[in-house]
Amino acid sequence: MKLEHVTADYQLGPIRSFNVLQDVEMKVESGSFTAVIGKTGAGKSSLLKIMNGLLLPKQGKVTIGDAIITPGKNKKALKSIRKRVGMVFQFPESQLFAETVEQDICFGPLNFGASKEEAKELARKVIKQVGLTADILSKSPFTLSGGQKRRIAIAGILAMEPDILVLDEPGAGLDPKGKLDILSSIASWHKEQGLTTLIVTHDMEDVAQFANNIVIMDKGTVVLHDAVRNVFSNKAIIDKWQLDVPEALKFQMKIEEKTGVKLPKVCLTIEELTESLIEAGLA
Ligand SMILES: Nc1ncnc2c1ncn2[C@@H]1O[C@H](COP(=O)(O)OP(=O)(O)O)[C@@H](O)[C@H]1O
Ligand SMILES: [Mg+2]
Repeated sequence: MKLEHVTADYQLGPIRSFNVLQDVEMKVESGSFTAVIGKTGAGKSSLLKIMNGLLLPKQGKVTIGDAIITPGKNKKALKSIRKRVGMVFQFPESQLFAETVEQDICFGPLNFGASKEEAKELARKVIKQVGLTADILSKSPFTLSGGQKRRIAIAGILAMEPDILVLDEPGAGLDPKGKLDILSSIASWHKEQGLTTLIVTHDMEDVAQFANNIVIMDKGTVVLHDAVRNVFSNKAIIDKWQLDVPEALKFQMKIEEKTGVKLPKVCLTIEELTESLIEAGLA
């Protein structure tokens, strides 16, 4: 997936927000896991929307596989990218609408031409992928817990069998366990199915634990796109963008300060830190 010189506005009736994306350049490798970070209003959600064709470029070009979106007519390309790029909105459970979980999940596949049988088969498959059991399919979504509803909303997107999954703050509003469960599931789809994944998050623990790459957005522009470890190895970058540092790295910095020993690499998780401390003879 490639974005070249992409600029976009919102026009909602008389209200217009100019250049919510400004000259965005970005290449996302197939099979990568990217965390998009940045302040509120930086354009993170807009970046995901332009990847899914919900927002269209005023200038520039979005290329996803063989589909190209430009400021002109895009009907065929849009149909292709909406199937290819699965978008999970922030608080996606607010968009559940059907009488049963099964109907909700089957909606997307049916819309893209699957038969009833195929759609039901997909529903049975994805309900397991999100860690639920098939008996929930006949229930009303409205009787379920918040975490279950979120999983079902995500299952509905997985049922369209996307190549790229983009999720806008998938852990927002869940308790710590619910959040970790969702993020771990996302990481396992990425690993096991090679699903190209982008998430918007504010949590640097998520970034450190699950993502390979970081995109920092500021004022509608991608200001940095690099490997997670490179970003957290760079003090100037951390300071410039006022990044929160993962817990493990905070510990590492304190240990290095107190002992005067420099560990050979930047540790992003407690596991990495433990190993490095043992190797250095400090534990
Ligand atoms: N539907 C909309 N209509 C008009 N302006 C919008 C809309 N959604 C977002 N914006 C504006 O676009 C800018 C970027 O928003 P957004 O992409 O949601 O940022 P983020 O997700 O980083 O918080 C903000 O200035 C916001 O006010
Ligand atoms: Mg947002």
